[in-house]
Amino acid sequence: MAIERTLSIVKPSAVKDNHIGGILAKLEAAGLRIIAAKMLRLTPTQAGNFYDVHRARPFFQELVDFMTSGPILVQALEGENAIAKNRDVMGATDPAKAAPGTIRAEFGNNISENAVHGSDAADTATAEIAFFFATSELCSR
Ligand code: CMP
Repeated sequence: MAIERTLSIVKPSAVKDNHIGGILAKLEAAGLRIIAAKMLRLTPTQAGNFYDVHRARPFFQELVDFMTSGPILVQALEGENAIAKNRDVMGATDPAKAAPGTIRAEFGNNISENAVHGSDAADTATAEIAFFFATSELCSR
């Protein structure tokens, strides 16, 4: 299986509730390696651009308001089959439907405050990592 990279975000609600450690522990336990990480607060323009694919959706403004409501932790992850592995560990988008033991089941509050974001495919992973990190900031392990 191929070594892949993917982007993960600990969302504002999970940062506020002090769940960074719990979330990163689950990612590492799944065999994913953190190769870059930083905390930042998105501007509305940045959040809108990051979630551009959802711009026409009814929840877009709610999504931007939430993602700019406080600091986030963004991390680039590396590992075998990292994109699918990360999505497995995250669980379903709606925490109420996420499998027990997944990040969203344990740390999500609702479909908006769902604890984490993760890239959904190889092309989005590449674009999303580049959105936050320069190539020189990625420390392959
Ligand atoms: P994420 O993986 O960050 O990708 C887009 C986000 O939009 C998603 O997680 C959810 O937090 C959010 N989202 C998706 N559907 C809805 C919805 N129906 N209402 C509010 N937020 C949503």
